[in-house]
This record gives sequence, structure tokens and C-alpha cells, in this order.
Amino acid sequence: SPFKNAAVLSDSYSSEASELADIEWDNLGFGLLPTDYMYMMKCSQGGNFSKGELQRFGNIELNPSAGVLNYGQGLFEGLKAYRKEDGNILLFRPEENALRMRQGAERMCMPAPTVDQFVEAVKETVLANKRWVPPPGKGSLYIRPLLMGSGAVLGLAPAPEYTFLIYVSPVGNYFKEGVAPINLIVEHELHRATPGGTGGVKTIGNYAAVLKAQSAAKAKGYSDVLYLDCVHKKYLEEVSSCNIFVVKGNVISTPAIKGTILPGITRKSIIDVARSQGFQVEERFVPVDELLDADEVFCTGTAVVVSPVGSITYKGKRVPYGVDGFGAVAQQLYSVLTRLQMGLIDDKMNWTVE
Ligand code: COI
Repeated sequence: SPFKNAAVLSDSYSSEASELADIEWDNLGFGLLPTDYMYMMKCSQGGNFSKGELQRFGNIELNPSAGVLNYGQGLFEGLKAYRKEDGNILLFRPEENALRMRQGAERMCMPAPTVDQFVEAVKETVLANKRWVPPPGKGSLYIRPLLMGSGAVLGLAPAPEYTFLIYVSPVGNYFKEGVAPINLIVEHELHRATPGGTGGVKTIGNYAAVLKAQSAAKAKGYSDVLYLDCVHKKYLEEVSSCNIFVVKGNVISTPAIKGTILPGITRKSIIDVARSQGFQVEERFVPVDELLDADEVFCTGTAVVVSPVGSITYKGKRVPYGVDGFGAVAQQLYSVLTRLQMGLIDDKMNWTVE
């Protein structure tokens, strides 16, 4: 049974979870560190998810004909848990991830957990892996919910069975640059998303589709790729794993959500934080030419948080930003957002969940 370890959970995880895992906490990057438990919940097509269970973290079994393996019927989410000085653990807007998974599931013809099921499952998984939540200031516990067509299907159709799974890993900075600015290159040939496609939902195929351009950019020394829209080939879309913001004076612009842009929860939060800090934020079509005279550019995402962009190479021309790439606006927004997420400032919006 996939739940064969369930019986031992109540005995083992309360004692295990009370102390910190014995690892080097000072240099976490963004790679998988296997933790103690994962969460699993299944349902059939047309049915509803019912109570899931924690089980020991490890490999899962899938039929070779599973919908996710053959036809990419899968979604993922990403959110983080931070440990506070007082030992409590904070999640950041987990119900937003639940809602986004539900929207994605509708697009991908999958049943999805309810918002309550999702949030409860996240809480249970984090608590069972509590000893893997980094000490304050050392990083966070990255939480990765998955939803996949796990039933066997040979002809093209929605799978007959679905699995919702959550695993976690302690993480530090996403880019190898650490907190240093990243260097992007505008991609002119390959595109991430098309109107009417799935770019606006967090389906797994969106991420496989960017690997080719990303690998080519990395081989040339860039951190990642900045995509343009595939119709006019002149409006900014996003980076492979994050949204983009362009700063000019007091105005911060970001591509509007229009089906090809992933509706980032960090994106949405940064828009609100920036407005509360007195900036004017515009969600609109942002022509690539605006990169040429921008004061500052930064990326947002759960994994990348707020990453300053040091330069963007566009049609062979390298455009540098900020003072050595560190823009003041990105720094200010990063500081407010992360202090909110870590429970260091008053959470007036009620974004954090203990
Ligand atoms: C995240 O920011 O959590 C994401 O889902 C992006 C992923 C490529 C790491």
C-alpha cells in the first residue's frame, strides 16, 4: 500500500520534528534535499478528492501509461514556509496557490483538491517535516504540490485517476548568482506560450518547453532567457521561471495577465506592496524597446523572490541596470516582502498563515 508507513507516523514525527535536521544550513541553494514525509491523495475522474495521507518521502509508482507521463496532464505549484525567531512557522498566501491549481486543473481537464483540502495538506506536510524548515535568515522550506493524471490512458483523453502529492525541500537562493543581479538575454526565435495555449496556468509542459532556450543562454554565460510575445514579437512576456518588472522613475510596469503570462503570487503581492510604497504600477503590454531606457529591471517568483536584473542583452546589445545591477526599487520591495513573509513586520493584509 502506498500508505504502509502511515501507522508509524504519529510515533515518529512528533519526536523527529522537534529538533532541526542535522545539515549545513549556511549554504543552501535551490536543489532537492530529501526530507521525511510527503503527502498523497487520489481521486478518480469525475470524483472528488477525499482524505489524503502522509507517507515516507520516496519514489512513487506510476503505470507506464499514466496520463502525466504520456500526455503531460500535470500541474505544479510552489510556495514557501519560513521559521520565525519564536519557532513558529509561516506560510505565505497558500490559498492563492490552491486557487491557481484549481484554475489550472480546469484548463487541463483534471479534478483538483478544494482550497481547504490544499491548505490543510500543505500545513500537515510542513509540520511533519518541521525539522527541515531552515533557521530564521538561512532560507525557507520550499513546498511543491503536484497534481497529475496518474491513471492509465492509451488513446488521448483525460486520465481515469488523479494524484495530488506534496513534497518539500529546504532551499536558499534560486540563481547561482545568490543575491547578486542576474543577466538575461532576450529570445527572438523560441516562445514560451501562445494565445489560447496554457502559458497562463502552471502546467508542467510550460517548463519543459523553455529548457532549450534556457540551456543555450546558460551555455553563453547568461542566467536565463526573457521571452517575447509570439504574435508581434515585441512585447515582454516573462523569464523561464519568473515574472518581469521594468522601473522608470516612479512607474513600475509589468506585462498584463492575458493568458500567456503566469499569474505569479509574488507578482501580485509585489504589485500591492509597490503601490503601498507610493509607486505607480501599470499592468499592460510592455514593448521590449522600453528595456533600453529603463532605470531598473527585476524578476519576481516564489523561488526567485525578487531578483535584481544586472543586464539584459537585446539584439546583441548589453543594457546594464542600477548601480552594479543592484536597483534601489528592487531592494526596497524585496526587503518589505521578505520581512512580511518572515513575520518581521505587521501583516496588515493578512497574507501569512501560521
Ligand atoms: C516557483 O517560483 O516556485 C516556480 O514554480 C518556478 C520553478 C521553475 C522553480
